[in-house]
Amino acid sequence: MILPLTLQLGLVIDLTNTTRYYNSAEWKNAGIKYVKIQCRGRDAVPDNESVNTFVHEVSLFLSRQKQQHTKKCIFVHCTHGHNRTGFMIVHYLMRSLLMSANEGKLQVASVTEAIQAFANARSPGIYKPDYIDALYTFYHERKPEMVICPSTPEWKKSSEFDLNGEAVPDEDDDGGPGAPLQEIPETDVTMTNDDVLGDAIPFDQQEAFRQFCYQALKLQSGPRGNSQFPGSHPVSLSRDNLQLLRQRYYYATWKADGTRYMMLLTVDGCYLIDRNFTFRRVQMRFPCRSTNGSAPEFLHHYTLLDGEMIIDTVPDSQKQERRYLIYDLIAINQISLVERPFSERWKLLEEEVIEPRNLERRNIFKSKNPNYRYDLEPFRVRRKDFYLLSAVKKVLRKFIPQLSHAADGLIFQGWDDPYVPRTHEGLLKWKYPEMNSVDFLFEMGPDERQQLYVNERGKKKLMEAYRVEFGEGSDPASYSGKIIECSYDSEKNVWVCMRVRVDKSTPNDINTYRKVKRSIKDNITEDDLLSEIDEILCLPMYADRIRADTIQAENERTSCKEKNRTEVSYYIPYLLKRHYARDKLMLNNQVAHKSGMVVGVENKANDWKPSKNVESYCSYDLTHVHDLDLPDNSRAILRALSYWSRIY
Ligand SMILES: *[C@@H]1O[C@H](CO)[C@@H](O)[C@H](O)[C@H]1NC(C)=O
Ligand SMILES: *[C@@H]1O[C@H](CO)[C@@H](O)[C@H](O)[C@H]1NC(C)=O
Ligand SMILES: *[C@@H]1O[C@H](CO)[C@@H](O)[C@H](O)[C@H]1NC(C)=O
Ligand SMILES: *[C@@H]1O[C@H](CO)[C@@H](O)[C@H](O)[C@H]1NC(C)=O
Ligand SMILES: *[C@@H]1O[C@H](CO)[C@@H](O)[C@H](O)[C@H]1NC(C)=O
Ligand SMILES: *[C@@H]1O[C@H](CO)[C@@H](O)[C@H](O)[C@H]1NC(C)=O
Repeated sequence: MILPLTLQLGLVIDLTNTTRYYNSAEWKNAGIKYVKIQCRGRDAVPDNESVNTFVHEVSLFLSRQKQQHTKKCIFVHCTHGHNRTGFMIVHYLMRSLLMSANEGKLQVASVTEAIQAFANARSPGIYKPDYIDALYTFYHERKPEMVICPSTPEWKKSSEFDLNGEAVPDEDDDGGPGAPLQEIPETDVTMTNDDVLGDAIPFDQQEAFRQFCYQALKLQSGPRGNSQFPGSHPVSLSRDNLQLLRQRYYYATWKADGTRYMMLLTVDGCYLIDRNFTFRRVQMRFPCRSTNGSAPEFLHHYTLLDGEMIIDTVPDSQKQERRYLIYDLIAINQISLVERPFSERWKLLEEEVIEPRNLERRNIFKSKNPNYRYDLEPFRVRRKDFYLLSAVKKVLRKFIPQLSHAADGLIFQGWDDPYVPRTHEGLLKWKYPEMNSVDFLFEMGPDERQQLYVNERGKKKLMEAYRVEFGEGSDPASYSGKIIECSYDSEKNVWVCMRVRVDKSTPNDINTYRKVKRSIKDNITEDDLLSEIDEILCLPMYADRIRADTIQAENERTSCKEKNRTEVSYYIPYLLKRHYARDKLMLNNQVAHKSGMVVGVENKANDWKPSKNVESYCSYDLTHVHDLDLPDNSRAILRALSYWSRIY
């Protein structure tokens, strides 16, 4: 091997799908780190996990270089160093230029700029059109029309000249002309809460992230290190802890039937954190609030959120939409907020995370990256609403039945509470009594004996003489070894299997189990709960604070109403008309559904007139307008948005 004399090499990343080109031990012998990321070239783009590994290796190496004040190079190669190499390097540029942008050095990159940067350095750059398209798709960017894939260079066209001295393409080639990429499967599949979202990340990157979470939560690593999911868990409401509702000031929200995830935002990616404390990367964009009113410059970096992923079914079309409902902000740009009261964290969540995103989304055409398409992200994002206890009846009777996802009860959140990791005795969940459930580990013992286990100090504990009923016709043996969620039938004295919890690897803890048993026995019905709350509302502490909170909310509402009134009545009908004309979508209903009220009516002249409710729409729920599927290619809409953004 011959090395250019002027370059000092520190790392080699080999992307080929073979080992026959050279003996990698030679690098190691020369004191150079060698990383093999085996990528098939021919008929597929490198997979997402390999990309994550590549970016991580490069970042790690460069940060070590920086620490040691050395300037060694990285040598990346595939077979010819264009398609796969370019693909990986563009990914790195996309994630790292963003990084530098946050340090105030470089502009946020777009895919077009990154592809061009690679092509400038290694002409003609990537010349596989599928790879270029895949990069735009990956980063949710619209490909500008002027982007043209370079044609295959002459040297490659001639089959006689091949860098490897082999004329026949083999499994390692980046693909001959016309080699098709694997078809992207139709997105018609039904979504479930158990779908695995995002891509695996390297182990040591995950370790570093886990450590950050523990720090943000001010947790010491326990006997199992940092490997345990640290998120806050509610306890079941029973006659014992019911009095907490009187002692502290609570707000309530519905208990969504979804999948719990914390989410870490960094400039190089967003990471969903599941109950196993496993991190997976998703491609999402979270700009920071801009401090001077111009387009946001920076992305969130080490902001930690808590929430749940739900699947909404749009009533009219039955279309499914995945949505992340965020209910807590644990850290923002590396600063831990766990000691701040919940009310403050929840407010900051709106101001620092949700609003900047909505704002950029509305003004995307004048943002740093006008080709970014929020609508292509894998899920939508919203802050979860919390309600005064005086509204609980409405939540139960009106709101929950109207939700477009399932809910199985209520959560009571102390308004002044800090964020408490793991079990939080002050965070209460109430389930409809028939929905109280325990997650057991089910096993089929000898003689087909059913065995139910819970978790006791990390070991499984057998619950004696328990029986489970499975749905008719299903074979109990097929559940053996699985975590099953069971409700209790107190008439028959059996547990009833509701579903398999593929998102959990351990059964409930024995203490959780005892609390659930207790709730089942206590049998706090909806009526019990509401009459308890009626009493609580008469307590002076509650009465005073609810009055104060209501006045404050009302003030915020009126000040918004005054300023936005005319503009809203101009804007919404305009938007609706455009949208309606385009594809005759029942947008009217859609808006009504999202906001809970009708905002526009169509009269005979096919003109949109704002309904009387527009004002209240403005004051309550303005953000939801921006959650609609706008026809993003419509200039008229953009003009309306631009008008909007000036007055909004
Ligand atoms: C890779 O990631 C992109 C962007 O997040 C996603 O659209 C695509 O489905 C992923 N590919 C696979 C095979 O998961
Ligand atoms: C890169 O992709 C192009 C287009 O698919 C293909 O013709 C070419 O062979 C690939 N390059 C290499 C070096 O394999
Ligand atoms: C806002 O600040 C950024 C730098 O942080 C600057 O580039 C931009 O011009 C400023 N905009 C206004 C309107 O002052
Ligand atoms: C959690 O881990 C367990 C075992 O470690 C595994 O069986 C399960 O599939 C994992 N769950 C998820 C959602 O990754
Ligand atoms: C709970 O209370 C309701 C109403 O008092 C009653 O109908 C129901 O059977 C009770 N459930 C249990 C499990 O005791
Ligand atoms: C318009 O209303 C929103 C809330 O819906 C508010 O945040 C914003 O400040 C209002 N605009 C103006 C110019 O006051």
